[in-house]
Amino acid sequence: MKILVIGGGGRENTLIWKLAQSDKVEKLFCAPGNAGTACYGENVDIPESDFDRLIEFVQEKGIDLTVVGPEKPLVDGIVDRFNSHHLPIFGPTQNAAMLEGSKVFAKKLMSEYDVPTAPYDVCETRAELEEITHGKSFPYVIKVDGLAAGKGALVIQDEGDLKSAIKDIYDENKFGDAAGCVIVEDFLEGEELSVLAVTDGTDYVLLSPAQDHKRAFDKDQGPNTGGMGAYAPAPLGSPDVLEKVEERVIRPVLKGMKERGTPFSGVLYCGLMIHNGDPWVVEFNVRFGDPESQVVIPLIQSDLVDLLDSVARGRLNAEGFTLSGRYAACVILASGGYPGPYEKGKVITGLEQLFQSRKAVPFLAGCRFDGSRYLTDGGRVMGVTVVSKSLNDAVLSAYNYLKVIEFEGMHYRTDIGFRALRRQKHF
Ligand code: AMP
Ligand code: GLY
Repeated sequence: MKILVIGGGGRENTLIWKLAQSDKVEKLFCAPGNAGTACYGENVDIPESDFDRLIEFVQEKGIDLTVVGPEKPLVDGIVDRFNSHHLPIFGPTQNAAMLEGSKVFAKKLMSEYDVPTAPYDVCETRAELEEITHGKSFPYVIKVDGLAAGKGALVIQDEGDLKSAIKDIYDENKFGDAAGCVIVEDFLEGEELSVLAVTDGTDYVLLSPAQDHKRAFDKDQGPNTGGMGAYAPAPLGSPDVLEKVEERVIRPVLKGMKERGTPFSGVLYCGLMIHNGDPWVVEFNVRFGDPESQVVIPLIQSDLVDLLDSVARGRLNAEGFTLSGRYAACVILASGGYPGPYEKGKVITGLEQLFQSRKAVPFLAGCRFDGSRYLTDGGRVMGVTVVSKSLNDAVLSAYNYLKVIEFEGMHYRTDIGFRALRRQKHF
């Protein structure tokens, strides 16, 4: 088979790395890809937003399956466009991608199907937001309705936070059209967990429950980032918790989407807050997570091509789907200054050594190859993943292996997995 992966981050590097292990694969392409995806397939210089050229490329090369990494093309309707040309593609249609594309849509669906989530109000104007937040007790969360590259949730702890949120949204228009509507929701206490289901709209399989680390610095300090590391399976996602997630979240959402006439096919990523053993939905994403992919995909033992191709063709084939029963940890190495402004073009050393290691896998993200050297080219430069028999070993080994990598300004969290390890008293 010939397969095209769309996107160019660590998630897409992980997808293509796993797809490359399938003996069904004849050739892999990645558009636009990065220095990491180029190790497993051919990068194609077409942006993820150029649907016409992507379709032309797929037709010209006779590509059998396209897998979409990021949310933007999904929310913009890439799957509908491919479907209209009868080209198999893994991901939800534009209407189904509304689960991530509009927080108001997701909230309404959850209310209708009794999916546990924080109580909320919708505000369509600045005056409405000011009225609803007037005298409301802190903390609470203001969220813009549309896509905001992971930066659209503002936790409001005091009057100062409220003022700066209003300024960002209305005076400085920082979120553009995404803030046409905003939500004010109660603050949820608990610990976060990411549960990803691969589904054809009716049947689904669960990937290993994972935990991301969104804050920039140790002990969850500093600003929110795209994610500084992940591990799986997270013990927080116990069989009991996962059963509740399936019963209270996944099944009702799939049922709701089907009843609306917009069945959801692809990856349903449930961003959850677990409080006293009960799951509450913080958000849905309609794609693989990043950096969750860097740990949940390596833990899939079976052939990823079978799984994704069956969903793209309309009927999930879960036969033979297996997880390895091992543990994975991924530590993200970021550019100095990230998630704020940072410089690009720093020379990265040590990567060749890591590529040769049998235990650690570097998944490259904001990283390019100039023909002789690897250079930083984004905020999150790469993730270093280790799969092992215990979580403790996976985490310690990831930290051990990443020591070979150096670039000016490099920073990373030193406490990935701390919640699970603290429970196991390794920390
Ligand atoms: P979102 O953009 O909805 O994924 O939110 C980003 C992050 O903000 C989440 O991963 C949480 O850490 C935090 N967050 C969002 N909504 C809530 C909430 N209702 N209560 C507590 N934390 C939240
Ligand atoms: N890890 C968070 C996300 O993929 O949105």
